[in-house]
Amino acid sequence: MFTNLVLIFATTIALPDSAAPFSTSQSEKIIQEINNMHTSWEAGPTPEDTIQEILQSLRGRVDTTKIEELSTLNHRSTLFPDLPDSFDARKKWPQCKDIIGIITRQGSCGSCWAHSSARAISDRICIESKGTTKVNISVEDLVTCCKTCSPTNGCEGGSLDVAYKHWIDEGIVSGAPDDENTGCKPMRLRFTKVAPECQKICTNSKYGKDYDQDKHYGQLYYQVKQKDVRQIQIEIMTHGPVSAIIEVMQDLYVYKRGVYRYKLGNYSNHHSVRILGWGIENGTSYWMVANSWGTEFGKLGGFLKIVKGENHINIENWILAGRVNATLSAREFLTPGRSNGGVEEVSVEKGN
Ligand SMILES: *[C@@H]1O[C@H](CO)[C@@H](O)[C@H](O)[C@H]1NC(C)=O
Ligand SMILES: *[C@@H]1O[C@H](CO)[C@@H](O)[C@H](O)[C@H]1NC(C)=O
Repeated sequence: MFTNLVLIFATTIALPDSAAPFSTSQSEKIIQEINNMHTSWEAGPTPEDTIQEILQSLRGRVDTTKIEELSTLNHRSTLFPDLPDSFDARKKWPQCKDIIGIITRQGSCGSCWAHSSARAISDRICIESKGTTKVNISVEDLVTCCKTCSPTNGCEGGSLDVAYKHWIDEGIVSGAPDDENTGCKPMRLRFTKVAPECQKICTNSKYGKDYDQDKHYGQLYYQVKQKDVRQIQIEIMTHGPVSAIIEVMQDLYVYKRGVYRYKLGNYSNHHSVRILGWGIENGTSYWMVANSWGTEFGKLGGFLKIVKGENHINIENWILAGRVNATLSAREFLTPGRSNGGVEEVSVEKGN
């Protein structure tokens, strides 16, 4: 039985990952059918260049195979008897609102794994320092310099868990998440399908610090107990936004507003996002999710609301986060990860 599972696992990984093409006529048909359903969300046209970018960026998958090996951070949940119906990290930590509120655009580079980790790390550096340290952790540095994050090239998918590990072991420099020339290594990757070579220098010549001096390090990274909504909520409430991995279905390309629930179209690929809160809209519970498809995606400035509490599109399965300081409070403890590499999980994955 175990051998069979390993075989399935190997076959799954060997297949090339790519998002199936999605034509304008398919897009129009899906939009019309979704809006005729009068469901919890509204669909509408997404600009053709954005759709093409999304498809390009989804050709590499987020690798989830090693996440089972990660330690789990557990909160003593009885100490949090009443969780709020809604929560927003931007409101809880107003001094970090400008950092937490940033929406990035990965463009055609399959680097969602780097965006969701670099942004959650930036949020948590600010939150842990009570707003005294503000930094944009450089997506560019992570994508180009973390060779272990990605089996082939940083722009063709990668591992969220290894990205967090790289922050702990090697550190990551600062850099604007867009074309603003701030920090040591600002983003130039948007139009790139192949990540450039790692340069261990500050590419922003005006920055005035050298590369090694500018490295930011974490001390701890972990996952939150899989499919445990309360644990995820407590983690976000007490320490800030987390990284998650979702299974993108084609109808997500035409999301506009409302609480997304899969309705139509095929599975596309795994994709990583950041969760910063939750709420209830017209009776439906949702996660407030920051995507990396730019601010013009959808009608919520690049944010999405995704159904909460049903592990919909696997959003509650792989929740990862880290800390600048490894000291745990008395209300939390770590348990070691499994050692079988998550083979059982992989064997039931759909798609490919
Ligand atoms: C972070 O990046 C945003 C977007 O480029 C920029 O407006 C902001 O000033 C940056 N913050 C820091 C602390 O560098
Ligand atoms: C979904 O997949 C099926 C079978 O491969 C295909 O016939 C269909 O056109 C696909 N739908 C879309 C919207 O791509």
